[in-house]
Amino acid sequence: MVASHVSIVSGGVYMKKIYWLSSIILAMTIGIACALHPSVKPSPNGIQLPVNYKDWPVIAPSYRSDNNTIRVILGNEIAVRAARSGNVVPWPEGAILAKIVWKEKSHEKWTSALLPGKFVHAEFMIKDSAKYSSTGGWGFARWKGLEQIPYGDDANFVQQCFGCHTPVKENDYVFTRPAEMP
Ligand code: HEC
Repeated sequence: MVASHVSIVSGGVYMKKIYWLSSIILAMTIGIACALHPSVKPSPNGIQLPVNYKDWPVIAPSYRSDNNTIRVILGNEIAVRAARSGNVVPWPEGAILAKIVWKEKSHEKWTSALLPGKFVHAEFMIKDSAKYSSTGGWGFARWKGLEQIPYGDDANFVQQCFGCHTPVKENDYVFTRPAEMP
């Protein structure tokens, strides 16, 4: 009697341990999967949407008067360190620049104040000179709309990006100048 009682108790503890362990493993798996944005498809050139880009610091804002869009250029840690220290021609290996674009809209209480309206897209330039040697050392990728649909029918879309960035070749193919800050 005593022996069977003990074995039931210890079996219960054992089951509880397995239960907790599997819950932790499940939570970790979901966490890792979310971090990699599994629901967001990779760009046709194989680039995955960078994790946590929305939390990156600002390098500069910009505005395009030809299509009335407000932009914010963000950088990963390597890019921001380079930007803050003025070390950006060339940008260091591993730097990632993100650009987030919104249609402008007027503030309803102060119409001359322009605010971000509809989200247009998020796009990226990833510095890896060896991997992206044919496009100036930068990997290009864009995801459209809040649905984050990868841009481009095939990997050749990067020629559009690279082509339009060649006028700033002498600035390491980057238009943005880090904004002046105190
Ligand atoms: C028609 C020209 C044009 C095309 C095509 C183009 N860009 Fe740009 N891009 C610009 C200009 C101009 C800027 C700077 C002004 C601004 O902030 O939008 C810029 C800025 C950027 C920036 C911020 C860093 C920088 O260079 O200032 C990123 C990131 C970027 N583009 C990614 C892309 C990607 C990815 C593609 C292709 C899917 C692409 N661009 C295609 C003109 C272009």
